[in-house]
Amino acid sequence: MFGIGNKKISTESYKGVRDFYPQDQAVQNHIFKIMREVSESWGYEEYGASILEPLELYKLKSSEEIIKEQIYYFTDRGNREVALRPEMTPTVTRMIAAKIQELPLPIRWYSIPNLFRYEKPQRGRLREHWQLNVDLFGVPSILAELEVISIAFDIMKKFGADEKDFEIRINNRLLLDDVFKKIKINEDKKQFVYRLIDKKEKFSDDDFRHSLVVLIGKESAEKLLENLYLGEGLLVTLKESEAAKNLNEVVNILRDRGVSNVVFTPTLTRGFDYYTGTVFEVFDTNKENPRSLFGGGRYDDLIGSFTSQNVSAFGFGMGDVTMRDFLETHKLLPEINSTASLCICVVSNTDMEEIYKIAKIFRESGISVAVDISGKKLPDQLKSLSKRKIPFVMTIGEEEIKNQTFTVRNTKTREEKNGNLEEVIKLCVR
Ligand code: HAM
Repeated sequence: MFGIGNKKISTESYKGVRDFYPQDQAVQNHIFKIMREVSESWGYEEYGASILEPLELYKLKSSEEIIKEQIYYFTDRGNREVALRPEMTPTVTRMIAAKIQELPLPIRWYSIPNLFRYEKPQRGRLREHWQLNVDLFGVPSILAELEVISIAFDIMKKFGADEKDFEIRINNRLLLDDVFKKIKINEDKKQFVYRLIDKKEKFSDDDFRHSLVVLIGKESAEKLLENLYLGEGLLVTLKESEAAKNLNEVVNILRDRGVSNVVFTPTLTRGFDYYTGTVFEVFDTNKENPRSLFGGGRYDDLIGSFTSQNVSAFGFGMGDVTMRDFLETHKLLPEINSTASLCICVVSNTDMEEIYKIAKIFRESGISVAVDISGKKLPDQLKSLSKRKIPFVMTIGEEEIKNQTFTVRNTKTREEKNGNLEEVIKLCVR
């Protein structure tokens, strides 16, 4: 038999994903609105794509962890392996590569896709999240770093964050390459060392040291640690290296531009194999929520895996889950009101067509109105308002319709005002 008989279906959502009840959706919309406003204020254009992608797209270029442990995929009815996208970078790169002859460079694009990763659900990590992607294509110079990191900073500021609430950690993989060369770490070990350094925060110092020793031997491990622990000092030690000069310049110009919380962090690598140069990650400085908030970097070789034309790229992905946690921790979430500005409560036996005519006039004046059509008694209608957060209420019966005089009450202050329709409409403007 199709179905499950009389058994009741669970009301729980699938593990690790969220339902957005209207209040949650309103917060989500607020977050997206700010992301959109700031991205567009820098001239970025929105694009979109399907959640479904051929699995192959991720096999070569995403992170090993995503492919081996986190990707959701299935075989379709035509025997194709299909993935639910775990990140947007392969998609946007594929789209740009497909039209590279037509698109004038530089390309400034943004999108807010939902993404799927089979993670162990925990604070800040879920199985479905939404992620603002801001990417700039065709700018090989540090002007790309400066622009995109400034956008990330502007978004944080627009959310109401203070510079002290977060820090922008920055590094350059080429600088690590210079360190690797100096201490003679084999080329074929490089990606493994990057990945290990990327996970450093998850290990104790001893375990990190031990894992490094296993990977590259005791002597190299000690030398590497010495360099990593130099902090800003590493930029001085390697001052002749191009990568160090480049990083110094990025950090100094950003600080001059007012992005005061950039911090050079030699242990930052980020998990994806496609990053080729500068990487950055934004961290909450609050002790209750010390997680990384979002990050990105330069990936100059990815378009070259689709076409013969190589195009440099720099961008970041900002997740909604971590951002919401951040805004909650720092009390930066706005108060969410109902979409309706006015609720019309109806005295029993009133002609509903008259009520709807009045509601229409309000709507035509730009005031959103919900009419209580529950058929409940007036006191019960008014009582249910307390849960709805609608700023204004008006009770209408035959008398109000006959006299064309109405009373509007502010549901928060309980203040009441009378007037004809034109006057009460003015009172309801938010
Ligand atoms: P990512 O570091 O994997 O980078 O993800 C970017 C951000 O998305 C994270 O810092 C976090 O805010 C959020 N995020 C990732 N996974 C989850 C999850 N399971 N649950 C909740 N939030 C999550 C990328 O995806 C790169 N493609 C970003 C990029 C764009 N690089 C260049 N352009």
